[in-house]
Amino acid sequence: MSAPLANARHSEARSAKGNPMAAATRDQHAVRDSRGGRRDGAVHIRDLVRSFDGRAVVDRISLDIAAGEFVALIGKSGSGKSTLLRALANIDDSVAGSGAIHVPDNRSVLFQDSRLLPWENVLQNITIGLRTPDARERGLAVLADVGLAGRENAWPNALSGGEQQRVALARSLVRDPSLLLADEPFGALDALTRIKMHELLFRLVEVHQPTVLLVTHDVDEALVLADRVLVMDAGRIIVDLRVDLPHPRGRSSEAFEALRAELLDALGVIVHV
Ligand SMILES: Nc1ncnc2c1ncn2[C@@H]1O[C@H](COP(=O)(O)OP(=O)(O)OP(=O)(O)O)[C@@H](O)[C@H]1O
Ligand SMILES: [Mg+2]
Repeated sequence: MSAPLANARHSEARSAKGNPMAAATRDQHAVRDSRGGRRDGAVHIRDLVRSFDGRAVVDRISLDIAAGEFVALIGKSGSGKSTLLRALANIDDSVAGSGAIHVPDNRSVLFQDSRLLPWENVLQNITIGLRTPDARERGLAVLADVGLAGRENAWPNALSGGEQQRVALARSLVRDPSLLLADEPFGALDALTRIKMHELLFRLVEVHQPTVLLVTHDVDEALVLADRVLVMDAGRIIVDLRVDLPHPRGRSSEAFEALRAELLDALGVIVHV
């Protein structure tokens, strides 16, 4: 497990995702595969079913996500996205189901609300449950990574919504997870803050190199960030689209617009031009 990187090291690490040798040099303890992701970061799902009152809301899904891959999951409200994510997070004990899931043990979950403890300060929230001797240093480093250096003693309710979500992001990254599961993490933020969070998340994913499953309602968010976009409908994955566009991705390029139209079509949205 590598320590969070301070801001000064971002440019060095930025090239690591496409260059496994650079990654291996940067972090000699991590085992990485040919994509640059951790070898233990892969996700495998076979014939997964999750049901409520006898109704399958995740309906025999099989899916493989490679280590280090950034996958976005979109779909209509009620299509089963959060149910699938909760199954992968192993926080759905009370839900009936069947099938097989292989996920890394070292995973973090990020929700729409930051879920910070109001009676703990920012640093305590980030390092909660982290029992390593360098917990404080790691917490401070990851706090700097999310652009909040110096705010370690602040109380959560003294932060803006965007800042609280950055603390939640820091908390989810402080253990350097092999898998980051995020359920509409920016859904409650205003449009400008959301764009800033996209840039931040992209940069942090390049540094920490987790496998990512991001649930979102925002097609552009999916296309700006992900290597692959899945569309879920009535418990099934109906589209599995690879996004082979270079970063940073301009939202107005022809290729971007074509992918957007394809996804909106899959979502049943009629686009008037
Ligand atoms: N605890 C529960 N008890 C009964 N039904 C549930 C429960 N949780 C979810 N459901 C149902 O399962 C279906 C899928 O819900 P889920 O939350 O996974 O959808 P979603 O795709 O995440 O939707 P949204 O985009 O609105 O967040 C919905 O019809 C929902 O009503
Ligand atoms: Mg949901």
